[in-house]
Amino acid sequence: MATSKEVKDEETVRKAPLFSALDDESAASLRASMSPVKVNKGQTLFKEGDPGDRLFVVLEGKLKLGTSSGDGRENLLSILGPSEMFGELSVFDPGPRTATATAVTDARLLALAHDQVIGWVTKHPQVSLQLLGRLAQRLRRTNESLADLVFSDVPGRVAKAIMDLGSRFGVQKDDGLHVNHDLTQEELAQLVGASRETVNKALADFAGRGWVRLEPRAVVVLDVERLSKRGR
Ligand code: CMP
Repeated sequence: MATSKEVKDEETVRKAPLFSALDDESAASLRASMSPVKVNKGQTLFKEGDPGDRLFVVLEGKLKLGTSSGDGRENLLSILGPSEMFGELSVFDPGPRTATATAVTDARLLALAHDQVIGWVTKHPQVSLQLLGRLAQRLRRTNESLADLVFSDVPGRVAKAIMDLGSRFGVQKDDGLHVNHDLTQEELAQLVGASRETVNKALADFAGRGWVRLEPRAVVVLDVERLSKRGR
């Protein structure tokens, strides 16, 4: 009999873009061709510029995707959690990894070799459509972040980032939306493309207004409406 962890993993996998359009039999067959990978908190899975040979689906935990400038400054592109996929760009546009993937918490993943991805995409048009949908969604988000960098101020970007993390990792409790992002203040700053000092100031301002409560590596959103409006 399947353990509760196996059942949870199965549910997580079925929501991933590679799997969501497949029937149970095909999903089981795809799953069987993937290999499990474990990463510990802080461990780098691959680096920007490495040759890419596999894509990954997150089963448990969080990872960050980031790039760095020649002088060592870092920018975070995305924080990924369960059911999310990454590492596919170098499949469809063969070349080096476009970002570095690092575990923010201990994490378990499934990996699929690039030639296997191509096999599935060629034989199952519905898998291609799901992947295209995900790529389009990512481009949409990237365009939005670019526009925010130009048109929004830092507090607006911080509010939006918290609400985005909240929509994926938040847990609604009696006292508010608990967003356990697991990021340091430095990482939060890298995610919104601002200095740590400016981001801290914005967070302290939100806390002072009673919109959020700050906790180590987490934010409790007390006023979703006002914070969302600030991030719009
Ligand atoms: P790949 O280039 O193989 O390895 C790095 C991965 O980061 C990349 O595939 C994508 O899956 C992911 N990635 C790259 N750019 C972005 C972005 N702007 N937003 C979200 N994920 C990204």
